[in-house]
Amino acid sequence: MLDIDRSNVPAHIAIIMDGNGRWAKKQGQERVFGHRHGVEAVRSVIEGAGEIGVKYLTLYAFSTENWNRPKAEVDALMNLLVQAINNELDGLMKNQVRLRVIGDMGSLPEKCRTGLQYAIGKTSGNKGLCLVLAISYSSKWECVEMVKKISKSVKDNVLDIDKITAETISDNMSTAGIPDPDILIRTGGECRVSNFLLWQLAYTELFFSPIMWPDFRKQDLWEIISNFQNRERRFGKTGEQVKKK
Ligand code: FPP
Repeated sequence: MLDIDRSNVPAHIAIIMDGNGRWAKKQGQERVFGHRHGVEAVRSVIEGAGEIGVKYLTLYAFSTENWNRPKAEVDALMNLLVQAINNELDGLMKNQVRLRVIGDMGSLPEKCRTGLQYAIGKTSGNKGLCLVLAISYSSKWECVEMVKKISKSVKDNVLDIDKITAETISDNMSTAGIPDPDILIRTGGECRVSNFLLWQLAYTELFFSPIMWPDFRKQDLWEIISNFQNRERRFGKTGEQVKKK
């Protein structure tokens, strides 16, 4: 398992799973074929993260903007999400994985919402990896919701406007209680963040992999973690200050 330092495992890894469509098209297949094979990569990465003790794994499964894709692809993705959750549920239970969803659950088709709610309830007592699925999620949507919640607290005199801190904002995001990601991985060769966790990524180490998501496996994840462990995270300090610690 490469040379991963078990005393310095990232607590939270976030992944933009990109490249499904291009992977499928390259083989003369419909884009949905790529999404279906993407589930194998999801399984491998959940196992790989759990095996080395990562606490949170956030996967960008469907963005607010993805609703603008052709209806057939949106429908297929929603069905695939429900199917994958149903099929993987036993495995999630066996591996003690706890499921959490961030995003606008209210916008999901009934079947998808109830399937996710069932899996969230069933896995809620698990003590291993927390798998956070971002579904119908975008960072700007999340920020608007956060502003509404905080404004309401101020309006209702529950919160003093001068007491608002960065922590107040984090506590009113859908990721409340989850540490900010140590690592963001985007597969598929594009180098952008695509409206994902913009507040939470302030000091995250970014990795852009050329591998298309359906080909990504736990070994690729471990290679990135090993590389991460050789980076110096300074959080605004100087290199000398960090080394002295
Ligand atoms: C981006 O690739 C991928 C998606 C929009 C969907 C990801 C969904 C899965 C892997 C399905 C299952 C997920 C879970 C969590 C069970 P793209 O279509 O934008 O690829 P392209 O850039 O090549 O067009």
